Amino acid sequence: MTAALLEAENLSKHFTLGGRFSPGGPQVLRAVDGVSLAVARGETLGLVGESGCGKSTLGRCLVRLYDVSGGAVRFEGRDITHLGEGALRPLRPRLQMVFQDPSSSLNPRRRVADLITEPLRVHPGPGGRARGRGEIRDRLHDLMDLVGLAREHLDRYPHEFSGGQRQRIGIARALALEPSLIVADESVSALDVSVQAQIINLFMDLQDRLGITYLFIAHDLSVVRQISTRTAVMYLGSVVETGDTETLFHRPAHPYTEALLSAVPVAHAGEARRRRIVLKGDVPSPLNPPPGCRFHTRCPKAQERCRIEPPALRDVGDGRMAACHFPNE
Ligand SMILES: Nc1ncnc2c1ncn2[C@@H]1O[C@H](COP(=O)(O)OP(=O)(O)OP(=O)(O)O)[C@@H](O)[C@H]1O
Ligand code: SF4
Ligand SMILES: [Mg+2]
Repeated sequence: MTAALLEAENLSKHFTLGGRFSPGGPQVLRAVDGVSLAVARGETLGLVGESGCGKSTLGRCLVRLYDVSGGAVRFEGRDITHLGEGALRPLRPRLQMVFQDPSSSLNPRRRVADLITEPLRVHPGPGGRARGRGEIRDRLHDLMDLVGLAREHLDRYPHEFSGGQRQRIGIARALALEPSLIVADESVSALDVSVQAQIINLFMDLQDRLGITYLFIAHDLSVVRQISTRTAVMYLGSVVETGDTETLFHRPAHPYTEALLSAVPVAHAGEARRRRIVLKGDVPSPLNPPPGCRFHTRCPKAQERCRIEPPALRDVGDGRMAACHFPNE
């Protein structure tokens, strides 16, 4: 038995681009390449990394919105890697995803009441029975209270709400079926900073009340720092470092984490200002990742060994794991 609610083991997702008849033939894009991580029940694991490093693809593989190319996904101790849609259906209520832009996932012609209760009408209740109207209405009221939406607004349409309120509608929909895990993919990124703080507080409050586990994906490190118990850092399809959030932010072991953090303004008064580390060059293409350590083309600490030998993710002390031959102490 494992304590982890969700686990990825050596998980990969490759996209094939172009066809047999395209110039140069088909190409393989390694969006996620050999990721292992575990999310413990009740915790929030933050997932950070530059645009295109594979965060969303990983999130979608973990909730099995994508078929995976290799490795394994386990949810609640069960191997769900190769389950088909039929076998996944009873699990879907417990594995939810909240996206960045609620406007694109909320049907503009439907009222809030219908949007929030849709999952309750699509998925049967316990024992496979359809839910009655009274039960659905009671649950709608509970959900609106939980996410802080006024009941008198249940007949409104999405465009009549602000961005933050629309995200509350999206969260209520995700909560409707009592999930144990929510993958929040850039769920506050489109909001103003003050509204971001309110939605982050809502996520944390829901965790306290309902015990939900989160995988919280964001490119904004300060957002991840506010909400996550632990943080994982991705670079070019791989996890390069994981650790307790405060340890990782204070003492990053991996040179890439260090560079990412050096670009973030200090969060607390008295916290030492970091020397800005400007990485040279662009992120290499996932169509043709560098050999050895994938970060070697940009790493200020790279040595000969790094060009040849891929570093494994290993324990580097203080609860940190890093994929680097020469981690910071
Ligand atoms: N459906 C797809 N088909 C082909 N390539 C894809 C697909 N989805 C993502 N990719 C590619 O996979 C890589 C990882 O993309 P992904 O969206 O997972 O990154 P991300 O870390 O979420 O980025 P962002 O911070 O911009 O959201 C990118 O190179 C992207 O172009
Ligand atoms: S293995 Fe080498 S190139 Fe890679 S991060 Fe560590 S020092 Fe840099
Ligand atoms: Mg993304």
